[in-house]
Amino acid sequence: MEQDEKYMRMCFALAKRGKNKVAPNPMVGCVVLNKSGDIISKGYHKQYGANHAERDALLKLKNNEAQGGTLYVNLEPCSHYGKTPPCVDLIIERKLSRVVMGMKDVNPLVDGITKLKQAGIQVDFALQKEAEFLNRVFIKNMTQKLPYVVLKTAVTLDGKIAAKTGNSKWITSEKARDEVYKMRKDFDCIMTSSNTIIADNPKMEHKFKCILDKDLRTDKNAQIYKQGKIYIATKNNTPVINGQLDIKSVLSDLYNMGIYSVFIECGGTLAGAVLKENLADEIYQFIAPKILNDNSGLSCFNGDCIDKISDAKTFEIYSLRQIGTDILVKLKRIC
Ligand SMILES: NC(=O)c1ccc[n+]([C@@H]2O[C@H](COP(=O)([O-])OP(=O)(O)OC[C@H]3O[C@@H](n4cnc5c(N)ncnc54)[C@H](OP(=O)(O)O)[C@@H]3O)[C@@H](O)[C@H]2O)c1
Repeated sequence: MEQDEKYMRMCFALAKRGKNKVAPNPMVGCVVLNKSGDIISKGYHKQYGANHAERDALLKLKNNEAQGGTLYVNLEPCSHYGKTPPCVDLIIERKLSRVVMGMKDVNPLVDGITKLKQAGIQVDFALQKEAEFLNRVFIKNMTQKLPYVVLKTAVTLDGKIAAKTGNSKWITSEKARDEVYKMRKDFDCIMTSSNTIIADNPKMEHKFKCILDKDLRTDKNAQIYKQGKIYIATKNNTPVINGQLDIKSVLSDLYNMGIYSVFIECGGTLAGAVLKENLADEIYQFIAPKILNDNSGLSCFNGDCIDKISDAKTFEIYSLRQIGTDILVKLKRIC
């Protein structure tokens, strides 16, 4: 229904106000209509531990104001006691007659749908795919107990990240690099490699950095170590498979440290390994209007020996933007 989609989009916009404040919880927004179809309240989940969106919206109303009305929310209302009481109980108490939700909650403790239906409340869905995409970090965390992973690269038109000498400064424009500084803030952790630190000595300012350095080859005076919390994955704290650190195991360790999203900035070897093991949920690829025109330059992904195009990893573009003189393509993995 067009009307349902309109109010669900409002929920998405409200939910996004909780971005970077609610993890490991999902971003949730809520819109309440009275029985005449007028909006009477809005709410959203403001921070971890705070009221859920439905509670935030309903508690702004008098006891009987929402009776017979419709509640829109982008995630199934909770039915269990967590940091706050179950939202379904409040929805039932306030006598709503219909609940339209974006997606079912992947948390196995939640079964709000059954409880709502048992109370005679009509349950419908709207914009399910969009709702799932909005909370893709939460879904990955909850279902796989792993952080959500985005791999960032900056390439020439011929897919090179550095000349054969390792020189890579700068492929993209200053505007694109400023965009990278901003996007880092959306992640709990930046991950990079020993090789990239040795080649580029980057600062990569961030509150938490994970460095893959099996044999502790990096210089302790490197710029990256001067700021932020640092976790170094080495052969002493991480399993080694075929001579390389097991990246999935590092990601699992990070998750157990409370890291829910990881932004990887590295060269082609690590990027290739991450891709080969299907560990990247998304790729952010900056493409500069430059051509290295030298096959011995370093490739962006260098992880596999593939004979057929049909075996290539396939992604779907969901955002395409020009930034300065470059293009930023955001792609999500097709499962
Ligand atoms: N344009 C860009 O976006 C960009 C970004 C970053 C870097 N760069 C350039 O990339 C170049 C470095 O690329 P690179 O390919 O040599 O290095 P890389 O991909 O950054 O890192 C490779 C290193 O990662 C570590 N690693 C940990 N687990 C691994 C696994 N499972 N599989 C593979 N490697 C694993 C290994 O080091 P250990 O054995 O020490 O653990 C390995 O040698 C530099 O020239 C740099 O300037 C370009």
